Amino acid sequence: MIDGKKILFSGMQATGTLTLGNYLGALKNWVTLSDEYECFYSVVDLHSITVRQDPAELRKRARNLLVLYIAAGLDPKKNCIYYQSHVSGHAELAWILNCFTYMGELNRMTQFKDKMAKHSDNINAGLYTYPVLMAADILLYQADVVPVGKDQLQHLELTRDVAQRFNGVYGEIFTIPEPYIGQRGARVMSLQDPTKKMSKSDENANASIYLMDDTDTIIRKFKRAVTDSEAEIRYREEQPGIRNLIDIYCACTGKTPEETEKEFEGKGYGEFKLAVGESVAAILKPVQERFQELSKDKAYIDSIIKENGEKAEYYARKTLRKVQKKVGFPERIR
Ligand code: TYM
Repeated sequence: MIDGKKILFSGMQATGTLTLGNYLGALKNWVTLSDEYECFYSVVDLHSITVRQDPAELRKRARNLLVLYIAAGLDPKKNCIYYQSHVSGHAELAWILNCFTYMGELNRMTQFKDKMAKHSDNINAGLYTYPVLMAADILLYQADVVPVGKDQLQHLELTRDVAQRFNGVYGEIFTIPEPYIGQRGARVMSLQDPTKKMSKSDENANASIYLMDDTDTIIRKFKRAVTDSEAEIRYREEQPGIRNLIDIYCACTGKTPEETEKEFEGKGYGEFKLAVGESVAAILKPVQERFQELSKDKAYIDSIIKENGEKAEYYARKTLRKVQKKVGFPERIR
């Protein structure tokens, strides 16, 4: 608890261009939860280098992502928005937790298996221990809740297991975090293959809506979305393409799948796709405009980076000191 509030931690990688999946699965929920909790929202740049990056590009993307958090509606005076690499405690705690995580556990991580297949020329140890760094991110701030999309649930489970193991040895050191999964948009699927999740790294640009896509592009991509020949707008397993579009529409409008089925009863796919595209454009446009505006204010963004980095550092140190003492590292002499 900080000032009587429960703690929330979440993060996003600054790799690739953010998609509608990132927005509906995570960022949008972050904004909803941001009043209720004491929040830490990190741009997780340490995670990004598990895959080879161009340094200038990474720096630029990380900054854009930080600005985007604010543009999406997070108030940086209330929420701690910061770069992971500015708080060395993440890496320090990750090392300690590495010694409490079994290789068998890491071998089971599906994201590692996927990334290993995709980056077969660079299967580095960081890629393998990535979930431990993620556990460190969360446990460092004693987070009660972690809002994420469904693809991160396995990592959250591991975080809980490692925290419980550590607490089992040393006493109640870490808060055991709960995942928070939004009701809609927790798994936005590719527009070109609705059996695959929408991903920043998809090579087909038509498969993903990027957060900075303009209205025409968004509508064009939805028009081309892969559906089926059933010619009925129904929310069911047998129609994964339509189901995905209904999920997106509901996440953007707040309607339920039943209401959506009724709204489009007897109507064609073309009309429905246009409505979905328009609902997405309506939700992204204000974020894009605010992003453009904020990006111009360098001094303001710099001050946020400095203040929030210091705040994160303060809370991270508190946990880290406790952990270091428990595992038996000698106290500092001041
Ligand atoms: P990342 O950067 O891949 O994704 C950021 C967030 O977006 C969600 N997401 C999706 N949600 C719904 N549908 C999709 N198609 C979709 N694609 C992505 C993700 O679930 C995530 O919530 N390892 C994390 C970053 C991280 C983190 C953390 C998250 C590092 N440390 C600590 C929470 C807590 C990742 O790579 O997310």
